[in-house]
Amino acid sequence: MDWEALRLRAVELMERAYAPYSHFPVGVAGLVDDGRVVAGCNVENAAYGVGLCAECGMVSELHATGGGRLTAVYCVGRDGAPLMACGRCRQLLWENGGPGCLVMTPEGVLPMSEVLPQAFGPANLGGGDARP
Ligand code: THU
Repeated sequence: MDWEALRLRAVELMERAYAPYSHFPVGVAGLVDDGRVVAGCNVENAAYGVGLCAECGMVSELHATGGGRLTAVYCVGRDGAPLMACGRCRQLLWENGGPGCLVMTPEGVLPMSEVLPQAFGPANLGGGDARP
């Protein structure tokens, strides 16, 4: 796993963030199970609650470019260091990567099963379980 390549892509995206209200730019990059790398940055709005986290953009690119499963994710703030996804975005990562998706955190690489324990997911809706 080339974590440094993912981090550099996340930093590139962080530099394109639109964060005039929080002044807290975020970038994220994710490796897809077919080898693609998808990425996103946060995009804020004058109506604060409408702002989009970086992970939202990344997941949109995932589906817009063919779908697949996230296998590894690296999110950074302005300092280029690992940034934990907010609660809502952990849910996005769970849906699109499942329990085995690896996430770079300030405490090292962790699987989503530890980043979002006892997650609510597709299995709770009676369908298939969250894909690995
Ligand atoms: N933010 C993200 O983009 N992802 C996260 O996981 C945490 C928070 C953004 C949202 C907002 O634009 C800024 O960081 C400050 O909260």
